[in-house]
Amino acid sequence: MPLLGVNIDHIATLRQARREEEPDPVLAAQIAEKAGADSIVAHLREDRRHIHDQDVKRLRRTIKKKFNLEMSLQKDIVRIACQVKPDQATLVPERREEITTEGGLDVLKHFKRIKDVSAQLQAHQIEVSLFIDPVKKQLEQTKEAGVNVVELHTGRYDRASTVEKQKFYLQKIDDITQYAISIGLVVNAGHGLKYYNTYPIARIKGMNELNIGHSIISQAVFVGLSGAVKDMRDIVHLKKRFSR
Ligand code: PXP
Repeated sequence: MPLLGVNIDHIATLRQARREEEPDPVLAAQIAEKAGADSIVAHLREDRRHIHDQDVKRLRRTIKKKFNLEMSLQKDIVRIACQVKPDQATLVPERREEITTEGGLDVLKHFKRIKDVSAQLQAHQIEVSLFIDPVKKQLEQTKEAGVNVVELHTGRYDRASTVEKQKFYLQKIDDITQYAISIGLVVNAGHGLKYYNTYPIARIKGMNELNIGHSIISQAVFVGLSGAVKDMRDIVHLKKRFSR
């Protein structure tokens, strides 16, 4: 049964729409934990478009379960992560003009920088995870870089235009998960997961954790954050299945 990581970036996005103090992402993290989130995820982007440095510090002080900081390989961000010491750092690619993280990290292309940054974070007792596309070579290079955790990008599964394509991407994620486990990696997944398409991913054998943000915060607008987290937790924990 996988765990649920709740990404609270969009609470900060709403706050930044008015550049005021509410809604507070730290309060959101507390509510999400109470409602059954197994971890809290926040992305400190280089342009600080939603989560700010102060949020990250306050989250570190208040999160009771696991704090998973999403971050790029940029020097300043790495320095902040080493100071704040989240339980986990998930390394992601970042382009300023993108709306959200578009693809996985290319571990082959950025191998040396990823290895160096991972070692730096690990030296500060931070577990490192790499957000990658479900591709064998990326997994093998992750191991080579001394990293034991991956998060598989589920965006292509989410955006598949036909049932056949969706089945194809689901099978791919399943196969890659089994291969990753066989070479000793812990496997998480996320991006674009929704109430109606998360269950099949949660059912993949050995899946450790699913990280979900936009869909939960969107649902929270209508039913409240606590109810939105509980419903998603029940799906991820394989107790409930929603259809479209
Ligand atoms: N995992 C990673 C690495 C991400 O970058 C994001 C988006 O911030 C998510 C999970 C959550 O994606 P979504 O908001 O589409 O659920």
